[in-house]
Amino acid sequence: MAARGQWGSKTGFILAAAGSAVGLGNIWRFPYTTGENGGGAFVIIYLICVALIGLPIMMSEIMIGRAAQKQPVSAFHTLQGGRSGWSGVGWLGVFAGFIILSYYVVIAGWAMDYTLKSVVNFSAPITQEARVESLTYRAETSVDDMREMLIARKADRLGRETTRTIRWKVRPSSMEAYNEFMTALTEAGGGAEARQRLLSDETLRRQVAEAEAINPEIETAIAQARTDAEAEYAGHDDVTIQTEAVDVIRRGVINDKVTNAFLSVAQDGWMSIFWTAIFMVLTITIVAGGISGGIEKACFFLMPALFVLLILLVIYGMFQRGFGEAMSFVLKPDLHEMRPSSVLAAMGQSFFSLSLGMGAMITYGSYQQSKKGLAGQSITIAGLDTAVALLACFMIFPIVFSFDQEPSAGPGLIFMSMPLAFAEIGPAGMLLGAIFFGLLVFAALTSSISLLEVVASYFIDEQGWSRKKAVWTLGIIIFLFSMPSAFALDPGFAMGGWIGSYGGSFDFLTTVDYLASNWMLPVGGFFIAIYAGWVMPKRMREAEVEGLAPIFYTGWLILARFVAPAVVILVLLQSIGILNADEVLHDLLN
Ligand code: TRP
Repeated sequence: MAARGQWGSKTGFILAAAGSAVGLGNIWRFPYTTGENGGGAFVIIYLICVALIGLPIMMSEIMIGRAAQKQPVSAFHTLQGGRSGWSGVGWLGVFAGFIILSYYVVIAGWAMDYTLKSVVNFSAPITQEARVESLTYRAETSVDDMREMLIARKADRLGRETTRTIRWKVRPSSMEAYNEFMTALTEAGGGAEARQRLLSDETLRRQVAEAEAINPEIETAIAQARTDAEAEYAGHDDVTIQTEAVDVIRRGVINDKVTNAFLSVAQDGWMSIFWTAIFMVLTITIVAGGISGGIEKACFFLMPALFVLLILLVIYGMFQRGFGEAMSFVLKPDLHEMRPSSVLAAMGQSFFSLSLGMGAMITYGSYQQSKKGLAGQSITIAGLDTAVALLACFMIFPIVFSFDQEPSAGPGLIFMSMPLAFAEIGPAGMLLGAIFFGLLVFAALTSSISLLEVVASYFIDEQGWSRKKAVWTLGIIIFLFSMPSAFALDPGFAMGGWIGSYGGSFDFLTTVDYLASNWMLPVGGFFIAIYAGWVMPKRMREAEVEGLAPIFYTGWLILARFVAPAVVILVLLQSIGILNADEVLHDLLN
């Protein structure tokens, strides 16, 4: 067998591992998941997950990889000195990598599409149209109507904020029952008689009463919001009102058009699969070329470039009027804003973003021979990854709030918000857009290669395939599996009908992402922590921590043995419904 590849240097390992970690997970997935889960509180839970679960598992993976010098499936065989059930963890990883890569390439494909579109400046006509429409609005609308529009808009925002807080006084289960009751009531045509009939159940009657008890308070809050909004605009003169109203309309038009531009890509399965194919070929070519070499060098320039661009765009955001709102959204924890599934989402996000739970870091670690620097490397990688994720939020949310966009817009968030900013910036925005999406594609590439590497290295190490054969075969098979994701939002295909057919509102891509990130990775990570903390022969474990201060070693051991596995299990149990943290939280807060 040919000698196994090795990293060019220690920095090479860190660059590659950070390249694997920093990707769509930070810039595409983290902001939209934060948006869907209400902001600040989610961010804090995420940071806790990184510290308590992510870091120790990252150390565990690198440790296992370095000790075994093998990819995940064989690593457990080697360390156990023979066939062992632990290799099932490796298998789960190979499978998870397969699934994640299958939709990862679709999103990366969209980013490629956007790079090219920015080059031809797709937002310029949008900006022009918006200006024309806002001119018409200005000519045809009286200042009084404009004032009314602004007040109503403000009142709506203020009202939504306060009613959300008031709703929290009702138990989540009662609120749910109440919503079901209201739907049934509407279906029955309403009326006192139907109401009576539906409320024959004792429990339901209590729940509905509980939910309706807050109605007066909500009405007062909505009236108050209106008064506050009126007060805010009372002092504004006509010119100020006109300027703001026209701006709101103009931004609204841009927002609609950019949203449509995104949908026209996402809902076009053929277009999506076209870009997916191109991205997949890029990934295959790089992985076929071996692990060191070109990619290590490209990382050296392009990762810092991405970092600098993010900072520039954050600075741009500081001058936008949505900046304050964005900061308080991302930084101010508000437990009322949390969704029931937020903790699971935060945990899944930490696994996804750090490339953990499927053996990617075992594989990358296996190309390293040094026994030093385990903790330092892990902290560097996790720190960089977290910094990029936070920067992405600071970049995106000022734009989201400046354009009245919904933070909870979902997976399209990055594609529907960043072009707004590029459109506003003008001609230079075009260039910035191309660079931004281009660097995003690059970041995605350094991550996708790690996913393909894990899958392919099994066939290289265990089945004796040549690298070329393994990479092309697996790459093409995974590409075939990416088709349902690429066509997931296309209304003209079978997958279009998949949405909501089981009552939910998840499309196919979101569903596999949910399954892989929130379930497969944490389960894999759980076993990896258990293995490194309890099962792995002590002498091997200790050989990997050469030079590590005893206090750090003990700290890691406690986290890997007890804390990380326990947290993962608790979160998963809560998600299955065996433990109801939602109601517990409600009781704690009231
Ligand atoms: N971490 C990458 C990102 O944030 C995605 C990724 C690459 C990954 N390799 C992985 C996720 C292995 C889980 C496991 O975009």
